[in-house]
Amino acid sequence: MKTELNEARLIAEIDLDRLPRHIAVIMDGNGRWAKKRRLPRIAGHRAGIKAVRQVAEACLRLGVPYLTLYAFSVENWKRPESEVKMLMDLLREYLGREIGELNRQNIRLRVIGRTHELPRLVQRDLDRALRETAKNTGMILTFALNYGARAELTDAVRELVDRARRNGEAFDIDEQTVTSHLYTREMPDPDLLIRTSGELRVSNFLLWQIAYSEIWVTDTLWPDFSQLDLFNAVLEYQKRERRYGGLTENAAAKGASKG
Ligand code: IPE
Ligand code: IPE
Ligand code: MG
Repeated sequence: MKTELNEARLIAEIDLDRLPRHIAVIMDGNGRWAKKRRLPRIAGHRAGIKAVRQVAEACLRLGVPYLTLYAFSVENWKRPESEVKMLMDLLREYLGREIGELNRQNIRLRVIGRTHELPRLVQRDLDRALRETAKNTGMILTFALNYGARAELTDAVRELVDRARRNGEAFDIDEQTVTSHLYTREMPDPDLLIRTSGELRVSNFLLWQIAYSEIWVTDTLWPDFSQLDLFNAVLEYQKRERRYGGLTENAAAKGASKG
């Protein structure tokens, strides 16, 4: 009851005309959440799924068009094989269970990352989830899986060099050329980047795309992240003045559209 009241109060404060178009989240702290409860790390990851539902629901309620969640980094393969396997199993379980709900909510699922390196069964389930939600026209929910920003930039450079070799001709490369070779080419840059569990780092997430994102860090561990936290983050975002190197928000918008 109290939560509902708080939610209502916070939502009323949010200016729906100035919502972030794209929110990206580094979901961190599952292991610590479990440790605090003397549970195995996987229990934290499992509890994290609830928070995925919460953040998606909160974005839907506001009408945020793009939500991107960092679920597995290229560096996360360094973890014990058993944890990696359990994370992959959990992902498959999530996909199997959630497609119906995503369709009901008109959410389109996307993935970014070197997904061709994921276990075969994960790839199969992902393909199916992408296919079955492809016609949805509402929010775009993107999972970053086996994602690394340096890997993404490396892949983009590789593609550009291949293209130059194939065509045997020189071509100009500007910022737009790079942007259009990233995994995220079909989405706007994140306006708001959220990291949970208090860590003040970006851990190889969307390095190019977050050049001018507003960053919001909370000590809340990911499994505890609620709709209230998302609303708080958006409110905080709306208090920021985005300058993009210019002097006022308006001048900034002009500057940004030039670049
Ligand atoms: C985030 O939680 C989930 C993934 C990186 C897959 P962690 O597993 O990193 O949790 P902590 O940082 O150990 O608490
Ligand atoms: C970032 O969390 C990656 C994901 C959330 C998938 P990590 O827990 O892997 O990041 P570091 O190791 O603390 O930087
Ligand atoms: Mg972590």
